[in-house]
Parts: sequence; C-alpha cells; structure tokens
Amino acid sequence: MQLLLFLFLHLLGWVSSFYPNHESKGVGLQDLTDTDITEMGILKAVATFMERNPRPGTPEFRAGELVDLSPLTPTTLFQAYFKADVSPSRFIKAIQQIIVGNNEVEMYQQDDSSYHFNCEEISKGILHFQTTRDSVFSGLSGSVSMSSLESARLNTGRALHILQKFYSNTNWVELGQNTPYHHLVNSSVLAYPVAPPTIPTCKDCSVDNSGFFDCTGNILVKNLLTSGYKTSTKCRTKPKGKCGHGGLYDETQFDPTTGGINKETSNPKLSPHHYLHHKAAGLAINATKEYFIGQGFGLLDLLGPDLFRKFFNLEGYSLTFVIDVTGSMGNDIAQVKTTSIDLIKKHANSLDAPYNYILVPFSDPEYGPVFKTQNVSQFQNSIASLTVGGGGDCPEMAMSGLQLALTSSEPRSKIFLFTDAGAKDISKLDDVLLLVESTKSQIYPFLTGYCVPTGTTLTTKNEYEILAEVSGTAAISVEKSNLNTVLGVIELALNSAPVLILHTVLLTDRLPFLVDENLKEISISVSTNTSFTLNVFLASGLEANTTTVVSTENFKIVNIIVEEPGSWHVVMNKIQTCTFKIEGKSLLDFSYQIMEEHNGYVLPIQGHPTKGSNYTLSVDVQGSASGMMITKILLLNKNGEVDSSINVDQMTDSSGRLKVVVSVQLQLTLLMIGIAGKTKNGTEFERVNPDLIQTEDVQLIFPPGQKSTLIEGGTLNISVLVVNKGKQRSQFKLQAKDEFSLLTEFHPSSVTLDAKETMNLSATFRAPANSNYSSSIATFTARSESAKNYLNILIRVVPESTLVTDDTPPQYEIENMNMPCKDTWQLMDECKKHQWDLIFRAWDESSQVYVSVGSEIPEAQELVCKEPVGAGSIPWVSCQYSSSCCYPYVDIIMQDKAGNANVLRVDNRQPMAENQNSNTVKVAISCATVAFVVCLSLLVCFLIFWRRRKQQSQGIYRID
Ligand SMILES: *[C@@H]1O[C@H](CO)[C@@H](O)[C@H](O)[C@H]1NC(C)=O
Ligand SMILES: *[C@@H]1O[C@H](CO)[C@@H](O)[C@H](O)[C@H]1NC(C)=O
Ligand SMILES: *[C@@H]1O[C@H](CO)[C@@H](O)[C@H](O)[C@H]1NC(C)=O
Ligand SMILES: *[C@@H]1O[C@H](CO)[C@@H](O)[C@H](O)[C@H]1NC(C)=O
Repeated sequence: MQLLLFLFLHLLGWVSSFYPNHESKGVGLQDLTDTDITEMGILKAVATFMERNPRPGTPEFRAGELVDLSPLTPTTLFQAYFKADVSPSRFIKAIQQIIVGNNEVEMYQQDDSSYHFNCEEISKGILHFQTTRDSVFSGLSGSVSMSSLESARLNTGRALHILQKFYSNTNWVELGQNTPYHHLVNSSVLAYPVAPPTIPTCKDCSVDNSGFFDCTGNILVKNLLTSGYKTSTKCRTKPKGKCGHGGLYDETQFDPTTGGINKETSNPKLSPHHYLHHKAAGLAINATKEYFIGQGFGLLDLLGPDLFRKFFNLEGYSLTFVIDVTGSMGNDIAQVKTTSIDLIKKHANSLDAPYNYILVPFSDPEYGPVFKTQNVSQFQNSIASLTVGGGGDCPEMAMSGLQLALTSSEPRSKIFLFTDAGAKDISKLDDVLLLVESTKSQIYPFLTGYCVPTGTTLTTKNEYEILAEVSGTAAISVEKSNLNTVLGVIELALNSAPVLILHTVLLTDRLPFLVDENLKEISISVSTNTSFTLNVFLASGLEANTTTVVSTENFKIVNIIVEEPGSWHVVMNKIQTCTFKIEGKSLLDFSYQIMEEHNGYVLPIQGHPTKGSNYTLSVDVQGSASGMMITKILLLNKNGEVDSSINVDQMTDSSGRLKVVVSVQLQLTLLMIGIAGKTKNGTEFERVNPDLIQTEDVQLIFPPGQKSTLIEGGTLNISVLVVNKGKQRSQFKLQAKDEFSLLTEFHPSSVTLDAKETMNLSATFRAPANSNYSSSIATFTARSESAKNYLNILIRVVPESTLVTDDTPPQYEIENMNMPCKDTWQLMDECKKHQWDLIFRAWDESSQVYVSVGSEIPEAQELVCKEPVGAGSIPWVSCQYSSSCCYPYVDIIMQDKAGNANVLRVDNRQPMAENQNSNTVKVAISCATVAFVVCLSLLVCFLIFWRRRKQQSQGIYRID
C-alpha cells in the first residue's frame, strides 16, 4: 500500500511553483527558485532594516548603501554593516529554516492546488497564506522561546511559499501589474476581482516551428484575475475555456484549452509564459521583502525591532556558564570568577564580544534559575553571589542545567560547563544532544573530578566527552588547583568569525596545515597523554611568533597573527598520539545541507541521514568568494582523517556565489564535511565544518498528503512511517512529544522490525478550545540499542473561522436596458450620435459590492452607482452604465471584498461590424462557402442554444 502511494505521487510528479531550489534537476542556471526568491527577499528586508538602524555610535548609512550592495549576500551585508569580520552563520541558519519551511510545502501540500493558487483557487490560497502568516505573528507574541522562533520560521517559509506562487501561477504579471498584490498581505486593501467560473479565461496556444506551444497572448481576460489548472486529487479537471498550468509536467497541457500560463522557469518546455519568469520572480522577491518590512503590515511593524532581530538571529551569540554549586566546587567557582571574567572583560567592547552573558547554576536536585545580562560586571556579580552547598551523593543535575542553558542561549552559543561530578539526570542526555544538534551551540566541559552516575557503568566515554565530541570541542579534565591554567580556552571562544581548519587525532610529531590569506589569526590546540613541547613553523621555514593561551603539561594552545600564508607545520618534541585542533578567524566559510529527492525535487532531509544511503550534498561557500575555486569536497571520519574526497571544479558565478552540489553515499557512522580549494590569489585553503554528522539505521518519514493543521477544540490523527534501514531485526522504542502538549496519545511505544521492514506509528493531537493560532513542534523518535533517529513535524492550530471561505459572488438584476444600437447606428460616422444605457442593481450576502467596467473602452462611457440602499441585512447598489453606440458592448464586473466576482456581459456588436465575435464569424463564413441554407439553420440553432446557455449561466447576459 505504501509503495503504491509513493508510486502514485511519483507519477503525479512535478508540481506547480517556481522550482524549490537549484539542487532540483531541470532548473536553469539563471532561473530564480523558491530558495533564491526567499533569500533575496530576506536579504533586501534585512538590509533595509540594518540601513535604518546603524549600530550605536556608528555613522548613518547612505540610502542604498546596504540594500544596493552587489552582490548582496549574508557575508557582504554583515561586513558592510559591522565594518569588520563578523560571521553571518547565525543569520544563514535562520534563512535556512525559513527555506526548509518553504520547500516542505512541495513535500506535504504538493497535491493541494489551493496552496499553489492553481485551478482558480485564489481566495483559498489567500486564506491559507493569511492564516499561516497570522499563526507566525501570534506565535511570536509574548515571551519567545527558541522553539517558538523555529516554528515561526518554518511557518513563515510556508506562508512565503504560498505568497510566491501567486506570481508564477496567476495572471497578475500578465495583467500588467508592477507591484505586489497588496490585498494578499493586507486584507484591508480591496481584492482584485477573480474570473467567475462562467468566464472563459484562455484560448488555445498555437504551436511554433519547433513544436512547442507559443502561448503569447493566450489569456482572454484583461481585468480579472485567473490562474492555470493543473489536475490533482483536489482539482480533477480543467474546465472548458479555462487556462492550463502548462509545461511538461502538466498532464493536461494537450487538452483544451491547450498550453498554459505558468512562469515557474525560463524554459519554454516547462513554462508557457517563460518570458515573464524574471518579472514574476522579481515581484515575488518584492512581495517577500514586504512580508517582513511592509509598512503597517509587515513582521517588523507588527512585532517590533527586537523580535525582528531575534527572528533573523541578528543578535550574536551568548556566552553561557553552567556551574555546579555543590559543596566541593567553592574553589573552582572562585577561579572561574576571577580568571574568566578578566578574559571576558578584555573583549567586552569588541565585535567579538557575545551578545549576552548567561549563568545557570545546578546542584541536586535543584537547577537554575537562569541569570541573563548584557553587562559583564553584572555577570561577574552574579557568579560572585553563587553559594555552594549540599550535594549528598556524588552525581548532580548537570543535564537539566545544560538543557536550560541551551534553551536560554542564542543559537550557536558557547557554553562552558564546570563540574566535578557525573550527571545524575543522565537520562536527559539524548534531549541535550538533540538540542546541541539543533542549536549548533558548543559545549566546553571543564571537569575537576568525575564520578560515574548511579545506575550506569563507565563506558569508553563519559557523558561530557560525548557532548564535547558532538559539539566539536574537547572535554578538559584538570586538577582543581590547576583550573586557572586552562581557562584561556574561554578567550578563544570569543571570536566573531570562527572557522575550523582541521581537527584531527594522529600519531605523529609533525603536522602540516594550510594557512590562507583570509585568516587574520589562528589558534593551535594540542592535547596528548604525556608532556610535550610545541613549535610552529611558517612556509618560509621561520618559526612563528606565538602567544600562549593555555599551557599545561599535556594540553597547550597558542595564538598566531597571520602575516605569511602558505603551508605551515606544527612540530613536537616526540612522536605520540595527539589531538590537534586548528581554528581561525575568517569570513571564508561554508554551510551545507544533506538533501534527497522527493517527487522529482531535491529537498533537505529531516532527522539524521541513514547509513549507506545516497544523498545530494549541497555546499554553499560564504565570504568574499569572488575568483575563488573549490577543488574538493571532503568526507572526514570522526578522527578528522579524510575518508573520501570528491573532486569538483567549481568557480564563483557572476553574482559572486559559489555553490557545489554532489552525490554522496554516507558509509561512516560519524563524519564531518570539509572543503578544499584555492583563493583568488591561488593560495590553497581548507575548511572543516565542526558539526558531527551521525548516520543511522532507522528512519522516520511523514508521508505526504496528511494534514498537520487542526482547528481549536478539534483533533488530528497523523501517521509516521518507521523504517528499519539496518541489516538485522531490531527492536525500536518509539516516542512522541510536542512542546505545548497537544499530543494526547500515540502507539505503539515499541516495535520489532526485520531488516527493511516498515510500520506506521500513529499519533493523535487535540487542541484545547481557545488555543487559537498556536504552533507546536512535535518530535518523534525511534531508538534501538545501536540506532536512533528523529522527525520534527510542525503542528498548527487555527481558529475554526479561518476555514470558511466566502465563495459566493455578488448577484445582480437588470432593471432596464435601452439598446438602440443596430445596423447603421453602429457604423463609423453614425454611432457617435447614439447612446445606449443599462440600469441594474447588485448585492452581496456578506460584503459591500464594488462595481467596475471590465472592458477596455477607449471613448466616453459612464458608470454611476448610487449609495447602497435597501432593507434588511443585504443592501444593494443601483448603477447606470451608458456609452455611445460605437461601443455597443461592455463587461461590468461586480465583486465583493474578497474578490469573488460576477460579470454582466453585454455584447451587441453586429457580425459585420469591426470587432466581431470571432466564433460567430468563423461559423458564418465557412457555412456560406459550403451550403448556405443548411448552415443557416445550423447557425440559428447554434445561436439559440448559445444564447440560452449563456443566459442560464450566471453573470452573462447577451442581447442581439
Ligand atoms: C522591486 O522593487 C524594486 C525596488 O522598489 C524595484 O526597483 C523593482 O522594479 C521591483 N521589481 C519588480 C519586478 O517590480
Ligand atoms: C616575530 O617577532 C619579532 C619581533 O617583533 C620579529 O622581528 C620577527 O620578524 C617575527 N617573526 C615572524 C616570523 O613574524
Ligand atoms: C547509490 O549510488 C551508487 C552509485 O551511483 C549505486 O551503485 C548504489 O546502488 C546506490 N545505492 C542506493 C542504496 O541507492
Ligand atoms: C594577493 O596577491 C597580490 C599580488 O600577489 C597581493 O598584492 C595581495 O596582497 C594578495 N592578497 C592577499 C589578501 O594576500
């Protein structure tokens, strides 16, 4: 069954939007994807914000100084704003989360045309956008947690996806519009009228010499909004006379009405209106920008600048101390208070300084409270006021303390843990590891003692060593009396643009490494089991001038200001097993995403990758990349040795971006990703991303086509697929939970699966009444002896009222029509002298009625409507239209506030007049040439039938 479902979705294939990203096949290099549009829109919004808000004490920016940067990338923006090397990696992470939310719509809502504005489901699309956007805004009111920010970013991605589709899939661009559709983002602005079902919107496309459809000018409506039909389970047919979506992946592109109108790409095979792709994408970028900074309705104006900064992670990192305050720690705390505060003070006014300082004490059974400040002296005072005591047995609540620290700190923070005991709450280790993974914060444990937690046995690594390994640091064990000598590590963490050059464990006395000109300074850290000495030599053979940061017998860190790039080396006095870590300060860095194919699109994976599977690895290089080249993608094992390398040969593109997309098979259990290449100057460089990737034998999948939204007071059932990707039968413990406890039950809680076997886990969520617009991230985990994986699903609650769309167009009634324009009265010289007019009334059940002229009539004509009148709850307006007999036709559009429209069509043009109705003429001419009499009767029949049909169908009135 599962297989069938997937096959079926696969057959449906590609969907209806700009393409999600450049990793997906078939996207032209110059095409703008969902990812490009989202990123550009965000960059323009944030650049505008930064331009208006220079840092305190710095000069004002010129208008356009940041917004018009070329290229405008996170790195160039941060460099121009801070006028220094400040890494934008936190900001990039926020952008990536928004993009994941955006791309997920292609995974989960791909079959729902209303999320794509297809099939003329325009008011539904607007409603989806507005409820999603509203849940972002209400989720961010009050005090925001990191997970509410994450929900908000994912929801924003979804909302933007819907918003952006409007421009590729409707005829907004073809209507000649040059600004975003403001009703979409601001419902107080009047909607544009939508073509009613009875109005034909497109004609067949012609076929050009190369066999493609030429769909130029195929849209028939000039004053009505419409969109293309693409069949799916929610939209089964393309009605006669309606536009198609068009392109290779539109199954009905050859059925009438042939061709289509999509502007997703600039490829004519995929997009009939390919020549409007860049215009549509430009409007989508501008609409994305307005979503964030639109005056009066954007996120900035509605939530304020502080939340805006938080939302985009513009605030920098936290420096967080998690301190054991049981009896034996008194002396440790005294050393931390003096030595580390001195180090922190040295940097307090530099750009390297943290955004804030956080202190979390823990003992047993207490932990917390969190103390947060932006002032170093206050931070020092809070450490000074810690009182030690208690403790009883050895282990303490370290994991609870860390959990609190991780959730209180900004993402990508530095967390220093001081303790002399094991963790009593070791059961929380997995939760802490998940937090480390999702926040990308680094934990630096300082251990002045250790005891094995009760109920566990000492394995090869203790819990602190595991945490250090996963966050790319090292646990430092030191005698209590020597704690002072290693606190220099804290100073190294004060770096506004940290990069990792290598991190490796080797049996050697000599280590060569590459230093490029983008590195301003580097630090070299070496630890071993016995004592050693260390010297560093430059490419020229000269010894480097080093500053000692930490120097104990078996652990040393030195700092070096880089003046001469090239191939350097570290030399030790004897061969032994050493852990080397070389870090630096540089803007040349990279981020990556592990992705896989879904329905033809390549999208980021959820959870951990599975061992042995094939993935697409997408690497984005940051920094002033121009002229730079990537030569290798490296897969490193957990000891930092290169396990495999993939040769690539990629230069920066015209916009200064450098992106590498390769296929990888992940065989290692633990691995890191690195890149190697050459700078503009030809210097070789290497960078390693410190995040440790763990591959697993189990996978959790949220099968598409399920809802993840529930209405307040309602329930939602979802099922999650658990797949044993391992080679043997295993038992898995299954868990599910969500932040706001909407989950009421799930089952089973454990399952035994054979190799390759799958099963469904089902979960039920219930939203309390009054829980309007909350969002909660549900985390599902599956865990065996040797494997664990997780899946996050954003569960959204919306008020019931938001599910109801007003689909009813206004109604009308003709009260009087005076149409004297016949025969000679329609001729050129004569027509000006004669007038015709029409009096009608219009009303709508739920809104005001707006009446306008929908035909392009170049000459004097008049539409006058009186103030609404009428008894009861439904007032009506009375209008009079008049024009000369030169134009004996008109479309009167009556619409409600939501854009539902009805068209009163009058067309009294004679077959022989200039702008004849082409259908009628064709029939007439061919008839004449064949058999006049037969055809005349046919024509009469046809006209009668046609007229009757049109009169029956709502909204069209024809008078001959
Ligand atoms: C988007 O906005 C910019 C700046 O306001 C404007 O110059 C540009 O023409 C707009 N793009 C489109 C496609 O309208
Ligand atoms: C180290 O510092 C000394 C004194 O400042 C200077 O003369 C020497 O050139 C420096 N060596 C290197 C390799 O930079
Ligand atoms: C992964 O890719 C390799 C090489 O393209 C192929 O031989 C292998 O079968 C693939 N493995 C899976 C699990 O798809
Ligand atoms: C790159 O090379 C040029 C010429 O060799 C030199 O002037 C410049 O300083 C180098 N750039 C850096 C950043 O080292």
